Amino acid sequence: MASLNWIGKEAVVNHDKEVPFKLLKKVKTASVGDNSQNLIIHGDNLEALKALMPHYYGKIKCIYIDPPYNTGNEGWVYNDKVNSPKIKQWLGKVVGRESEDLTRHDKWLCMIYPRLKLLRDLLTEDGSIFVSIDDNEHCNLRLAMDDIFGEINFVTTIIWQKKYTQSNDAKYFSNTHDFIICYAKNKENKNFKINLLARTEEQDARYKNPDKDPRGVWMTQPLHAKSGTDKTYEFTFSNGVKWKPPAGTFPRYSINTLKEADAGGTIWFGKNGSAVPRLKKYLAEMKHGVIPKTIWLYDEVGSNDDAKRAIKHLFDDNPFDSPKPPSLIKQIIKLSSNPDDTVLDSFAGSGTTGHAVLDLNKEDGGTRKFIMVEMEDKVAKDITAERVKRAIKKYGYKDGFEYCELDKPLFNEHGQIEETCDFRQFATYIYFTETQTNIDPKKIDENFIGELDTTEYYLLYKGKNRNDLDKSFLKKIKDTDSKKVIYADRCLIDDDTLARHNIVFKQIPYEVKVY
Ligand SMILES: C[S@@+](CC[C@H](N)C(=O)[O-])C[C@H]1O[C@@H](n2cnc3c(N)ncnc32)[C@H](O)[C@@H]1O
Repeated sequence: MASLNWIGKEAVVNHDKEVPFKLLKKVKTASVGDNSQNLIIHGDNLEALKALMPHYYGKIKCIYIDPPYNTGNEGWVYNDKVNSPKIKQWLGKVVGRESEDLTRHDKWLCMIYPRLKLLRDLLTEDGSIFVSIDDNEHCNLRLAMDDIFGEINFVTTIIWQKKYTQSNDAKYFSNTHDFIICYAKNKENKNFKINLLARTEEQDARYKNPDKDPRGVWMTQPLHAKSGTDKTYEFTFSNGVKWKPPAGTFPRYSINTLKEADAGGTIWFGKNGSAVPRLKKYLAEMKHGVIPKTIWLYDEVGSNDDAKRAIKHLFDDNPFDSPKPPSLIKQIIKLSSNPDDTVLDSFAGSGTTGHAVLDLNKEDGGTRKFIMVEMEDKVAKDITAERVKRAIKKYGYKDGFEYCELDKPLFNEHGQIEETCDFRQFATYIYFTETQTNIDPKKIDENFIGELDTTEYYLLYKGKNRNDLDKSFLKKIKDTDSKKVIYADRCLIDDDTLARHNIVFKQIPYEVKVY
Protein backbone atom coordinates (compact mmCIF):
# COMPACT_ATOMS: atom_id res chain seq x y z
CA MET A 1 0.00 0.00 0.00
CA ALA A 2 1.29 3.47 -0.84
CA SER A 3 2.05 5.51 2.24
CA LEU A 4 2.50 9.19 2.73
CA ASN A 5 5.59 10.80 4.10
CA TRP A 6 6.67 14.41 4.30
CA ILE A 7 9.09 16.60 6.23
CA GLY A 8 7.49 17.43 9.55
CA LYS A 9 5.24 14.33 9.68
CA GLU A 10 6.87 13.00 12.84
CA ALA A 11 6.26 16.27 14.64
CA VAL A 12 2.57 16.49 13.81
CA VAL A 13 1.39 12.90 13.57
CA ASN A 14 0.37 12.80 17.22
CA HIS A 15 0.19 16.53 17.76
CA ASP A 16 -3.57 16.37 18.26
CA LYS A 17 -2.86 14.76 21.64
CA GLU A 18 -0.59 17.64 22.70
CA VAL A 19 -2.91 20.53 21.87
CA PRO A 20 -3.80 22.25 25.15
CA PHE A 21 -7.40 21.86 26.20
CA LYS A 22 -9.02 25.30 26.25
CA LEU A 23 -12.36 26.42 27.59
CA LEU A 24 -14.96 28.16 25.46
CA LYS A 25 -16.26 31.58 26.45
CA LYS A 26 -19.64 32.71 25.18
CA VAL A 27 -19.80 36.27 23.84
CA LYS A 28 -23.38 37.28 24.46
CA THR A 29 -23.23 40.52 22.48
CA ALA A 30 -22.19 38.67 19.32
CA SER A 31 -24.70 35.84 19.73
CA VAL A 32 -28.26 35.69 18.37
CA GLY A 33 -31.16 34.31 20.41
CA ASP A 34 -31.01 32.29 23.62
CA ASN A 35 -29.89 28.74 24.30
CA SER A 36 -29.27 27.95 20.69
CA GLN A 37 -27.27 24.81 20.15
CA ASN A 38 -25.70 26.35 17.06
CA LEU A 39 -22.15 27.54 17.64
CA ILE A 40 -19.75 29.87 15.90
CA ILE A 41 -16.28 29.70 17.43
CA HIS A 42 -13.57 32.24 16.76
CA GLY A 43 -10.16 30.61 16.92
CA ASP A 44 -7.74 28.16 15.39
CA ASN A 45 -9.72 25.01 14.69
CA LEU A 46 -7.01 22.83 16.21
CA GLU A 47 -7.76 24.29 19.63
CA ALA A 48 -11.45 24.74 18.95
CA LEU A 49 -11.94 21.09 17.94
CA LYS A 50 -10.12 20.00 21.05
CA ALA A 51 -12.31 22.26 23.17
CA LEU A 52 -15.39 20.64 21.58
CA MET A 53 -14.27 17.10 22.41
CA PRO A 54 -15.80 16.74 25.90
CA HIS A 55 -19.14 17.90 24.48
CA TYR A 56 -19.20 16.42 20.98
CA TYR A 57 -16.88 13.40 20.87
CA GLY A 58 -18.54 10.87 18.54
CA LYS A 59 -21.62 13.07 18.08
CA ILE A 60 -21.20 14.82 14.73
CA LYS A 61 -22.94 13.11 11.84
CA CYS A 62 -21.76 15.30 8.99
CA ILE A 63 -18.56 17.30 8.59
CA TYR A 64 -17.99 19.55 5.63
CA ILE A 65 -14.69 21.42 5.36
CA ASP A 66 -13.29 23.74 2.76
CA PRO A 67 -9.69 24.23 3.89
CA PRO A 68 -7.21 26.53 2.13
CA TYR A 69 -6.39 24.84 -1.20
CA ASN A 70 -2.75 25.97 -0.99
CA THR A 71 -2.90 27.76 -4.33
CA GLY A 72 -0.36 30.39 -3.38
CA ASN A 73 -2.93 33.08 -4.12
CA GLU A 74 -2.28 35.85 -1.61
CA GLY A 75 -4.85 38.44 -2.54
CA TRP A 76 -7.84 37.14 -0.59
CA VAL A 77 -9.53 38.29 2.58
CA TYR A 78 -8.27 35.14 4.27
CA ASN A 79 -4.81 33.94 3.52
CA ASP A 80 -4.92 30.84 1.35
CA LYS A 81 -1.23 30.16 1.72
CA VAL A 82 -0.15 28.03 4.58
CA ASN A 83 2.19 30.98 5.13
CA SER A 84 -0.63 32.68 7.01
CA PRO A 85 1.08 34.34 10.02
CA LYS A 86 -0.97 32.31 12.48
CA ILE A 87 -0.21 28.99 10.84
CA LYS A 88 3.45 30.01 10.41
CA GLN A 89 3.70 30.71 14.10
CA TRP A 90 2.03 27.40 14.86
CA LEU A 91 4.37 25.48 12.54
CA GLY A 92 7.36 27.17 14.16
CA LYS A 93 6.16 26.00 17.55
CA VAL A 94 5.15 22.47 16.61
CA VAL A 95 7.61 21.47 13.90
CA GLY A 96 10.44 23.60 15.27
CA ARG A 97 13.39 24.90 13.23
CA GLU A 98 12.82 22.27 10.58
CA SER A 99 9.70 24.21 9.59
CA GLU A 100 11.85 26.77 7.75
CA ASP A 101 12.87 24.08 5.23
CA LEU A 102 9.41 22.73 4.50
CA THR A 103 7.95 23.03 1.02
CA ARG A 104 4.45 24.45 0.76
CA HIS A 105 3.06 20.91 0.43
CA ASP A 106 4.87 19.81 3.61
CA LYS A 107 3.42 22.80 5.43
CA TRP A 108 -0.07 22.11 4.19
CA LEU A 109 0.12 18.50 5.32
CA CYS A 110 1.47 19.57 8.72
CA MET A 111 -1.50 21.91 8.99
CA ILE A 112 -4.26 19.52 7.87
CA TYR A 113 -3.13 16.22 9.40
CA PRO A 114 -3.74 16.83 13.13
CA ARG A 115 -6.96 18.67 12.33
CA LEU A 116 -8.32 15.73 10.35
CA LYS A 117 -7.46 13.43 13.26
CA LEU A 118 -9.53 15.52 15.64
CA LEU A 119 -12.38 15.74 13.13
CA ARG A 120 -12.45 11.94 12.88
CA ASP A 121 -12.80 11.66 16.66
CA LEU A 122 -15.81 13.97 16.56
CA LEU A 123 -17.70 11.91 13.97
CA THR A 124 -20.45 9.47 14.98
CA GLU A 125 -19.72 5.84 14.08
CA ASP A 126 -22.10 6.20 11.11
CA GLY A 127 -20.93 9.72 10.23
CA SER A 128 -19.00 11.00 7.22
CA ILE A 129 -16.75 13.86 6.19
CA PHE A 130 -16.70 15.79 2.92
CA VAL A 131 -13.64 17.89 2.01
CA SER A 132 -13.45 20.43 -0.82
CA ILE A 133 -10.09 20.58 -2.58
CA ASP A 134 -8.47 21.20 -5.96
CA ASP A 135 -5.46 19.79 -7.79
CA ASN A 136 -2.91 21.57 -5.56
CA GLU A 137 -3.42 19.16 -2.66
CA HIS A 138 -5.92 16.59 -3.97
CA CYS A 139 -3.46 13.67 -4.01
CA ASN A 140 -1.85 14.55 -0.69
CA LEU A 141 -5.26 14.90 0.90
CA ARG A 142 -6.38 11.48 -0.38
CA LEU A 143 -3.29 9.81 1.06
CA ALA A 144 -3.54 11.70 4.36
CA MET A 145 -7.19 10.65 4.67
CA ASP A 146 -6.36 7.04 3.79
CA ASP A 147 -3.86 7.20 6.66
CA ILE A 148 -6.32 8.66 9.16
CA PHE A 149 -9.68 7.18 8.14
CA GLY A 150 -8.40 3.99 6.51
CA GLU A 151 -8.41 3.28 2.79
CA ILE A 152 -11.45 1.08 3.29
CA ASN A 153 -13.51 4.06 4.44
CA PHE A 154 -13.05 6.04 1.25
CA VAL A 155 -16.54 6.60 -0.17
CA THR A 156 -16.14 8.70 -3.30
CA THR A 157 -14.69 11.73 -5.02
CA ILE A 158 -17.28 14.15 -6.32
CA ILE A 159 -16.49 16.52 -9.15
CA TRP A 160 -18.26 19.82 -8.67
CA GLN A 161 -18.58 22.08 -11.70
CA LYS A 162 -17.79 25.37 -10.01
CA LYS A 163 -17.87 27.49 -13.12
CA TYR A 164 -19.44 27.38 -16.55
CA THR A 165 -17.49 30.09 -18.36
CA GLN A 166 -14.31 29.25 -20.16
CA SER A 167 -11.00 31.03 -19.40
CA ASN A 168 -9.33 31.35 -22.77
CA ASP A 169 -6.24 32.79 -21.16
CA ALA A 170 -5.61 29.54 -19.22
CA LYS A 171 -2.20 28.05 -19.94
CA TYR A 172 -3.34 24.53 -20.85
CA PHE A 173 -6.87 23.81 -19.66
CA SER A 174 -9.59 26.06 -18.38
CA ASN A 175 -10.27 24.69 -14.90
CA THR A 176 -13.98 24.46 -14.19
CA HIS A 177 -14.20 21.98 -11.31
CA ASP A 178 -13.23 21.28 -7.71
CA PHE A 179 -13.11 17.90 -5.97
CA ILE A 180 -15.13 16.97 -2.91
CA ILE A 181 -13.65 13.93 -1.20
CA CYS A 182 -15.88 11.82 1.03
CA TYR A 183 -14.80 9.34 3.74
CA ALA A 184 -16.95 7.47 6.24
CA LYS A 185 -15.89 7.09 9.86
CA ASN A 186 -16.72 3.41 9.46
CA LYS A 187 -18.27 2.19 6.23
CA GLU A 188 -18.96 -1.19 7.84
CA ASN A 189 -21.21 0.38 10.48
CA LYS A 190 -24.73 -0.87 9.84
CA ASN A 191 -26.19 2.61 10.11
CA PHE A 192 -23.81 4.27 7.68
CA LYS A 193 -25.58 5.30 4.51
CA ILE A 194 -25.69 7.92 1.83
CA ASN A 195 -29.28 9.10 1.46
CA LEU A 196 -31.08 9.18 -1.85
CA LEU A 197 -31.71 12.51 -3.49
CA ALA A 198 -35.29 13.63 -3.97
CA ARG A 199 -36.59 12.90 -7.44
CA THR A 200 -36.91 16.01 -9.55
CA GLU A 201 -40.04 16.97 -11.50
CA GLU A 202 -37.99 16.59 -14.65
CA GLN A 203 -37.11 13.01 -13.76
CA ASP A 204 -40.73 12.18 -12.92
CA ALA A 205 -41.95 13.80 -16.16
CA ARG A 206 -40.16 11.08 -18.15
CA TYR A 207 -42.85 8.63 -16.99
CA LYS A 208 -45.99 8.64 -19.19
CA ASN A 209 -49.12 6.51 -19.56
CA PRO A 210 -50.04 6.23 -23.29
CA ASP A 211 -52.01 2.98 -22.75
CA LYS A 212 -53.89 4.30 -19.69
CA ASP A 213 -52.38 1.51 -17.56
CA PRO A 214 -54.24 1.46 -14.20
CA ARG A 215 -50.86 0.90 -12.46
CA GLY A 216 -49.96 4.49 -13.29
CA VAL A 217 -47.27 6.25 -15.33
CA TRP A 218 -44.35 4.22 -16.63
CA MET A 219 -41.29 4.20 -18.84
CA THR A 220 -39.56 1.26 -20.53
CA GLN A 221 -36.23 -0.51 -20.41
CA PRO A 222 -34.74 -2.73 -23.12
CA LEU A 223 -34.66 -6.46 -22.45
CA HIS A 224 -30.97 -6.70 -23.39
CA ALA A 225 -27.76 -5.24 -22.02
CA LYS A 226 -24.05 -5.31 -22.85
CA SER A 227 -23.60 -7.54 -19.83
CA GLY A 228 -26.43 -9.43 -18.21
CA THR A 229 -27.38 -13.02 -17.42
CA ASP A 230 -24.59 -15.34 -18.54
CA LYS A 231 -26.83 -17.63 -20.51
CA THR A 232 -28.46 -16.23 -23.57
CA TYR A 233 -31.90 -17.44 -24.62
CA GLU A 234 -34.75 -16.83 -27.02
CA PHE A 235 -38.20 -16.04 -25.70
CA THR A 236 -41.65 -16.33 -27.22
CA PHE A 237 -44.27 -14.09 -25.63
CA SER A 238 -47.87 -15.22 -25.17
CA ASN A 239 -48.92 -13.01 -28.15
CA GLY A 240 -46.53 -14.98 -30.37
CA VAL A 241 -43.83 -12.29 -30.60
CA LYS A 242 -40.36 -13.82 -30.55
CA TRP A 243 -37.42 -12.02 -28.91
CA LYS A 244 -33.69 -12.66 -28.59
CA PRO A 245 -30.89 -10.25 -27.54
CA PRO A 246 -29.16 -8.48 -30.46
CA ALA A 247 -25.71 -9.79 -31.40
CA GLY A 248 -23.01 -8.96 -28.85
CA THR A 249 -25.51 -8.40 -26.03
CA PHE A 250 -27.11 -10.56 -23.34
CA PRO A 251 -30.58 -10.82 -21.78
CA ARG A 252 -30.84 -8.17 -19.04
CA TYR A 253 -33.34 -10.26 -17.06
CA SER A 254 -33.71 -13.93 -16.20
CA ILE A 255 -36.13 -16.04 -18.21
CA ASN A 256 -38.42 -16.23 -15.14
CA THR A 257 -38.62 -12.44 -14.91
CA LEU A 258 -39.72 -12.29 -18.54
CA LYS A 259 -42.32 -15.03 -17.95
CA GLU A 260 -43.73 -13.09 -14.99
CA ALA A 261 -43.72 -9.79 -16.92
CA ASP A 262 -45.47 -11.48 -19.87
CA ALA A 263 -48.14 -12.95 -17.59
CA GLY A 264 -48.56 -9.66 -15.70
CA GLY A 265 -48.90 -7.58 -18.89
CA THR A 266 -45.88 -5.39 -18.18
CA ILE A 267 -44.20 -5.83 -21.57
CA TRP A 268 -44.64 -2.99 -24.04
CA PHE A 269 -44.84 -3.93 -27.72
CA GLY A 270 -45.27 -0.37 -29.00
CA LYS A 271 -48.44 1.55 -29.85
CA ASN A 272 -49.44 -0.82 -32.63
CA GLY A 273 -47.79 -3.93 -31.18
CA SER A 274 -44.94 -4.09 -33.70
CA ALA A 275 -42.04 -2.56 -31.74
CA VAL A 276 -39.17 -4.50 -30.14
CA PRO A 277 -40.56 -5.61 -26.75
CA ARG A 278 -39.41 -3.66 -23.66
CA LEU A 279 -40.14 -3.96 -19.95
CA LYS A 280 -42.44 -1.39 -18.33
CA LYS A 281 -41.08 0.28 -15.17
CA TYR A 282 -43.70 2.04 -13.07
CA LEU A 283 -42.99 5.27 -11.22
CA ALA A 284 -44.93 3.90 -8.24
CA GLU A 285 -42.40 1.07 -7.92
CA MET A 286 -39.30 3.24 -8.14
CA LYS A 287 -37.26 4.09 -5.06
CA HIS A 288 -38.40 7.28 -3.39
CA GLY A 289 -35.26 9.01 -4.53
CA VAL A 290 -32.32 8.76 -6.84
CA ILE A 291 -28.77 7.62 -6.18
CA PRO A 292 -26.48 10.65 -6.32
CA LYS A 293 -24.01 10.85 -9.19
CA THR A 294 -20.34 11.73 -8.74
CA ILE A 295 -20.48 14.70 -11.09
CA TRP A 296 -22.43 17.67 -9.73
CA LEU A 297 -23.24 20.31 -12.30
CA TYR A 298 -23.57 24.03 -11.56
CA ASP A 299 -27.20 24.10 -12.62
CA GLU A 300 -28.02 21.47 -9.98
CA VAL A 301 -26.00 22.66 -6.96
CA GLY A 302 -24.86 26.18 -7.84
CA SER A 303 -21.58 27.67 -9.02
CA ASN A 304 -18.99 30.07 -7.62
CA ASP A 305 -21.10 32.89 -9.02
CA ASP A 306 -24.19 31.61 -7.17
CA ALA A 307 -22.12 31.53 -3.98
CA LYS A 308 -21.21 35.19 -4.42
CA ARG A 309 -24.79 36.10 -5.26
CA ALA A 310 -25.98 34.46 -2.01
CA ILE A 311 -23.64 36.75 -0.05
CA LYS A 312 -24.55 39.79 -2.13
CA HIS A 313 -28.18 39.34 -1.09
CA LEU A 314 -27.03 39.97 2.47
CA PHE A 315 -24.13 42.44 2.16
CA ASP A 316 -23.98 45.46 -0.12
CA ASP A 317 -20.42 44.79 -1.10
CA ASN A 318 -18.75 41.38 -1.37
CA PRO A 319 -16.80 40.84 1.84
CA PHE A 320 -15.54 37.33 1.08
CA ASP A 321 -13.86 36.15 -2.09
CA SER A 322 -14.10 32.37 -2.03
CA PRO A 323 -17.47 31.22 -0.68
CA LYS A 324 -19.24 28.02 -1.68
CA PRO A 325 -22.89 28.09 -2.79
CA PRO A 326 -25.41 27.19 -0.03
CA SER A 327 -27.11 24.69 -2.39
CA LEU A 328 -23.87 22.72 -2.74
CA ILE A 329 -23.54 22.33 1.02
CA LYS A 330 -27.27 21.64 1.36
CA GLN A 331 -26.87 18.69 -1.01
CA ILE A 332 -23.97 17.31 1.09
CA ILE A 333 -26.00 17.66 4.28
CA LYS A 334 -29.07 16.01 2.73
CA LEU A 335 -27.02 13.04 1.54
CA SER A 336 -25.15 12.42 4.77
CA SER A 337 -27.39 13.27 7.72
CA ASN A 338 -30.87 13.18 9.21
CA PRO A 339 -32.97 16.24 10.00
CA ASP A 340 -31.96 16.23 13.70
CA ASP A 341 -28.19 15.83 13.28
CA THR A 342 -25.29 18.20 13.94
CA VAL A 343 -23.19 19.50 11.06
CA LEU A 344 -19.65 20.80 11.62
CA ASP A 345 -17.52 23.07 9.45
CA SER A 346 -14.15 23.96 10.95
CA PHE A 347 -13.01 26.22 8.07
CA ALA A 348 -16.12 28.36 8.11
CA GLY A 349 -15.13 31.38 5.98
CA SER A 350 -18.29 33.32 5.12
CA GLY A 351 -20.49 30.90 7.12
CA THR A 352 -22.19 29.20 4.18
CA THR A 353 -22.58 25.95 6.15
CA GLY A 354 -24.54 27.67 8.93
CA HIS A 355 -26.70 29.39 6.34
CA ALA A 356 -27.28 26.07 4.54
CA VAL A 357 -28.30 24.29 7.77
CA LEU A 358 -30.82 26.99 8.72
CA ASP A 359 -32.21 27.08 5.20
CA LEU A 360 -32.66 23.31 5.06
CA ASN A 361 -34.39 23.33 8.46
CA LYS A 362 -36.80 25.95 7.16
CA GLU A 363 -37.42 23.92 4.01
CA ASP A 364 -38.18 20.57 5.68
CA GLY A 365 -38.96 21.45 9.32
CA GLY A 366 -35.72 19.79 10.51
CA THR A 367 -33.86 20.63 13.71
CA ARG A 368 -30.29 20.27 12.47
CA LYS A 369 -27.62 22.12 14.44
CA PHE A 370 -24.39 23.63 13.14
CA ILE A 371 -20.97 24.27 14.59
CA MET A 372 -18.58 26.50 12.68
CA VAL A 373 -15.01 27.54 13.45
CA GLU A 374 -13.18 30.47 11.87
CA MET A 375 -9.69 31.57 12.75
CA GLU A 376 -9.24 34.99 11.18
CA ASP A 377 -10.01 37.93 13.47
CA LYS A 378 -11.39 40.01 10.62
CA VAL A 379 -13.63 37.22 9.36
CA ALA A 380 -15.17 35.37 12.34
CA LYS A 381 -17.34 38.13 13.78
CA ASP A 382 -17.76 40.51 10.87
CA ILE A 383 -18.34 37.98 8.11
CA THR A 384 -19.09 34.45 9.42
CA ALA A 385 -21.37 35.48 12.28
CA GLU A 386 -22.66 38.60 10.55
CA ARG A 387 -23.71 36.63 7.46
CA VAL A 388 -25.68 34.11 9.53
CA LYS A 389 -27.21 36.92 11.60
CA ARG A 390 -28.36 38.76 8.47
CA ALA A 391 -29.67 35.54 6.91
CA ILE A 392 -31.72 34.78 10.05
CA LYS A 393 -33.30 38.23 9.82
CA LYS A 394 -33.84 38.33 6.07
CA TYR A 395 -35.18 34.79 5.62
CA GLY A 396 -36.96 34.43 8.97
CA TYR A 397 -34.99 31.39 10.23
CA LYS A 398 -36.20 30.36 13.66
CA ASP A 399 -32.86 29.54 15.32
CA GLY A 400 -30.01 31.73 16.45
CA PHE A 401 -26.43 30.88 17.43
CA GLU A 402 -23.94 31.29 20.23
CA TYR A 403 -20.73 33.07 19.39
CA CYS A 404 -17.73 31.85 21.40
CA GLU A 405 -14.11 32.79 21.83
CA LEU A 406 -11.46 30.34 22.90
CA ASP A 407 -10.66 31.05 26.51
CA LYS A 408 -7.70 30.14 28.69
CA PRO A 409 -6.25 26.60 28.73
CA LEU A 410 -7.67 24.35 31.45
CA PHE A 411 -4.18 23.91 32.89
CA ASN A 412 -2.18 27.09 33.50
CA GLU A 413 1.56 27.40 32.93
CA HIS A 414 2.23 25.95 36.41
CA GLY A 415 0.21 22.82 35.60
CA GLN A 416 -2.62 23.95 37.92
CA ILE A 417 -6.28 24.08 36.97
CA GLU A 418 -7.15 27.52 35.64
CA GLU A 419 -8.92 29.47 38.38
CA THR A 420 -11.78 30.69 36.22
CA CYS A 421 -12.75 27.11 35.32
CA ASP A 422 -16.09 26.34 36.98
CA PHE A 423 -17.38 23.03 38.37
CA ARG A 424 -19.43 22.12 35.32
CA GLN A 425 -16.62 22.86 32.85
CA PHE A 426 -14.18 20.80 34.88
CA ALA A 427 -16.67 17.96 35.39
CA THR A 428 -17.32 17.84 31.64
CA TYR A 429 -13.61 17.50 30.99
CA ILE A 430 -12.98 14.91 33.74
CA TYR A 431 -15.93 12.75 32.70
CA PHE A 432 -14.77 12.83 29.08
CA THR A 433 -11.14 11.92 29.80
CA GLU A 434 -12.29 9.05 32.04
CA THR A 435 -14.96 7.60 29.76
CA GLN A 436 -14.38 8.96 26.24
CA THR A 437 -18.07 9.76 26.23
CA ASN A 438 -19.87 13.03 26.82
CA ILE A 439 -21.33 14.01 30.15
CA ASP A 440 -25.10 14.14 30.56
CA PRO A 441 -25.58 17.45 32.44
CA LYS A 442 -28.98 16.24 33.70
CA LYS A 443 -27.28 13.45 35.65
CA ILE A 444 -24.93 15.76 37.58
CA ASP A 445 -25.95 15.71 41.23
CA GLU A 446 -23.72 17.80 43.48
CA ASN A 447 -20.40 15.93 43.31
CA PHE A 448 -21.69 12.96 41.34
CA ILE A 449 -20.92 13.64 37.67
CA GLY A 450 -22.06 10.43 35.98
CA GLU A 451 -21.52 6.70 35.65
CA LEU A 452 -20.49 4.33 32.91
CA ASP A 453 -20.75 0.54 33.02
CA THR A 454 -20.07 -0.23 36.69
CA THR A 455 -18.06 2.86 37.61
CA GLU A 456 -19.36 6.05 39.21
CA TYR A 457 -17.46 9.33 38.90
CA TYR A 458 -17.29 12.09 41.51
CA LEU A 459 -15.58 15.46 41.51
CA LEU A 460 -14.82 17.65 44.52
CA TYR A 461 -14.10 21.06 43.12
CA LYS A 462 -15.23 24.23 44.85
CA GLY A 463 -12.19 26.31 44.02
CA LYS A 464 -8.56 26.34 44.93
CA ASN A 465 -7.40 23.92 47.66
CA ARG A 466 -10.73 23.41 49.36
CA ASN A 467 -11.45 20.00 48.00
CA ASP A 468 -10.75 17.22 50.48
CA LEU A 469 -11.97 13.69 50.23
CA ASP A 470 -12.77 13.14 53.92
CA LYS A 471 -15.10 11.11 56.12
CA SER A 472 -17.94 13.61 55.83
CA PHE A 473 -17.81 13.30 52.03
CA LEU A 474 -18.12 9.51 52.27
CA LYS A 475 -21.63 9.99 53.67
CA LYS A 476 -22.64 11.81 50.48
CA ILE A 477 -21.68 9.16 47.96
CA LYS A 478 -24.14 6.56 46.66
CA ASP A 479 -24.46 3.39 48.71
CA THR A 480 -23.74 0.98 45.86
CA ASP A 481 -21.23 -1.78 45.12
CA SER A 482 -19.95 0.09 42.05
CA LYS A 483 -16.39 1.24 41.77
CA LYS A 484 -16.14 4.95 42.57
CA VAL A 485 -13.54 7.21 41.00
CA ILE A 486 -13.25 10.40 43.07
CA TYR A 487 -11.25 13.46 42.01
CA ALA A 488 -10.15 15.83 44.82
CA ASP A 489 -7.13 17.87 45.93
CA ARG A 490 -6.37 15.72 48.97
CA CYS A 491 -7.45 12.41 50.41
CA LEU A 492 -7.82 12.28 54.19
CA ILE A 493 -9.07 8.70 54.28
CA ASP A 494 -6.89 5.67 54.92
CA ASP A 495 -6.32 3.04 52.25
CA ASP A 496 -8.35 0.33 53.98
CA THR A 497 -11.45 2.49 54.15
CA LEU A 498 -11.02 3.45 50.50
CA ALA A 499 -10.75 -0.22 49.54
CA ARG A 500 -13.82 -1.13 51.64
CA HIS A 501 -15.87 1.48 49.77
CA ASN A 502 -14.38 0.47 46.41
CA ILE A 503 -12.99 4.00 45.95
CA VAL A 504 -10.15 5.06 43.66
CA PHE A 505 -8.85 8.49 44.64
CA LYS A 506 -7.42 10.71 41.87
CA GLN A 507 -5.46 13.78 42.80
CA ILE A 508 -6.17 17.12 41.10
CA PRO A 509 -4.26 18.24 39.03
CA TYR A 510 -1.64 15.47 38.70
CA GLU A 511 -3.98 12.62 37.95
CA VAL A 512 -6.26 14.58 35.65
CA LYS A 513 -5.70 12.88 32.31
CA VAL A 514 -4.65 14.92 29.33
CA TYR A 515 -6.75 14.12 26.31
C1 LIG B 1 -11.89 28.46 1.61
S1 LIG B 1 -12.36 29.33 3.00
C2 LIG B 1 -13.89 28.59 3.38
C3 LIG B 1 -15.02 29.19 2.64
C4 LIG B 1 -16.37 28.69 3.08
N1 LIG B 1 -16.61 27.34 2.67
C5 LIG B 1 -17.46 29.58 2.57
O1 LIG B 1 -18.39 29.10 1.90
O2 LIG B 1 -17.39 30.78 2.81
C6 LIG B 1 -11.32 28.74 4.29
C7 LIG B 1 -11.50 29.46 5.61
O3 LIG B 1 -10.84 28.73 6.62
C8 LIG B 1 -10.24 29.65 7.52
N2 LIG B 1 -9.14 28.95 8.18
C9 LIG B 1 -7.92 28.64 7.68
N3 LIG B 1 -7.18 27.99 8.59
C10 LIG B 1 -7.96 27.87 9.71
C11 LIG B 1 -7.75 27.31 10.99
N4 LIG B 1 -6.60 26.72 11.31
N5 LIG B 1 -8.75 27.38 11.90
C12 LIG B 1 -9.94 27.96 11.58
N6 LIG B 1 -10.17 28.54 10.37
C13 LIG B 1 -9.19 28.50 9.44
C14 LIG B 1 -9.77 30.79 6.63
O4 LIG B 1 -9.58 31.96 7.40
C15 LIG B 1 -10.92 30.86 5.65
O5 LIG B 1 -11.88 31.78 6.08
